[in-house]
Amino acid sequence: MPTLTPYVFLSCARAVLILFQWPVLNTIDLHNDLRLSQRAHMVLAWLVHLYVHSTPVSGNDDKPSRVPRSLTIPLVQISRHLGFAPVLTFADTVLWNWELIDPALPVSIDNMRFTNVFSGTEDEVNFYQASARAELRGVEILRIMDEFYSLPNLSDFTSISKLARDLTRLAGIIDSISDIIQSVRPECDPHTFYWDIRPWFEGSDAKGPDSPGWIYEGIEDSDSLDLSGPSAGQSSVMHALDIFLDIDHKLRQRRYPAPSPENKRADHGFMDRMRRYMPGKHQEYLRHVSGSSRSIRELAQSTPALREPYDAAVHALKRLRDSHLRIACLYIVTMSRSTPNSRGGCPALAMIDRLRAARQAGQGPVRGTGGNELSVLLKAGRDATRRAMLKPN
Ligand code: HEM
Repeated sequence: MPTLTPYVFLSCARAVLILFQWPVLNTIDLHNDLRLSQRAHMVLAWLVHLYVHSTPVSGNDDKPSRVPRSLTIPLVQISRHLGFAPVLTFADTVLWNWELIDPALPVSIDNMRFTNVFSGTEDEVNFYQASARAELRGVEILRIMDEFYSLPNLSDFTSISKLARDLTRLAGIIDSISDIIQSVRPECDPHTFYWDIRPWFEGSDAKGPDSPGWIYEGIEDSDSLDLSGPSAGQSSVMHALDIFLDIDHKLRQRRYPAPSPENKRADHGFMDRMRRYMPGKHQEYLRHVSGSSRSIRELAQSTPALREPYDAAVHALKRLRDSHLRIACLYIVTMSRSTPNSRGGCPALAMIDRLRAARQAGQGPVRGTGGNELSVLLKAGRDATRRAMLKPN
């Protein structure tokens, strides 16, 4: 598929009509081929978001968006096969959205070209690239975890020294992911992100629980589908890291310092919900590591040589969430007070109309994926991380 920018796609009124007339394809022939199944999910999910967000506003923006059967039926079918949400996800925008520039060379960030972008901007490419860079770094995290879970013995001197070294290395990897998150600042303009890129990501519930949402034509239980948009919160690497370090996002453990009233009112189900937006195999992996009887935190509690290295890794993750919070505030909270630039042409025009209407109506809290109150959510994650430390400072 060529680069998918709305500016080269179709004129909007025609697109709406054509999509309602398209045949409903069966995806069953793709199910034996993982790559083709992933590709089908990616293409269909991109089309759904392109369709919803470029459909002209009909005067009454309180009506739900109806998505045609030609998109919804194959997307729901392929999503059920892959075991995850029938909507644009982190996998569609980052994990599967690239090709090798030179197929003879190995996978590396310099050898990856992102194929689909909504806005046609370099900023959008750079945004996906930052997440991909974090994922590539994340592979080292998964290796450290894997070695921990498969060590034959956790009590001998060699194993403890190895774990201490690995935890120290882990802290360095987490710090480098913080640097990657900060690197979006010069490469992705906050205003472009907020007004030209992010609106395309919005899912059915982006405007909060009482918003009209989307109806998937031809799907019986359309209102029970997971239809929030993509988020790096759907990266399985970050969830794996949380499981490994035993970060208690759900406030189930008694830890210090006690959660603030704001922490308590945050959406504690967010991280669990985000898992439904990860490919089924990723969810399976996370269930597998969650089910392990080994806990690096418990081991560190009872092994003086591991306490500091463990705390250093947790502290690095807390720093990551601090710097991510600053980025999210700059790119979303601050930009929500700015105004969109005018840009002519359909479907960009339809999008701008929506944004203006939302801007005028928008007195409510600034929301993230799934309509969460953003800063409350991210601060709660940061504070839950800090509470994992054995010796909080
Ligand atoms: C311009 C850059 C970024 C912005 C504006 C941003 C914004 C957000 C927002 C709004 C959320 C809340 C959940 C949601 O609504 O989706 C979120 C969550 C998250 N983001 Fe980002 N993000 C950015 C870059 C990144 C990058 C590069 C990573 C790579 C690791 C990342 C990792 C996460 C994670 C793991 C979460 C889940 C919450 C948590 O673990 O604390 N973000 N982000």
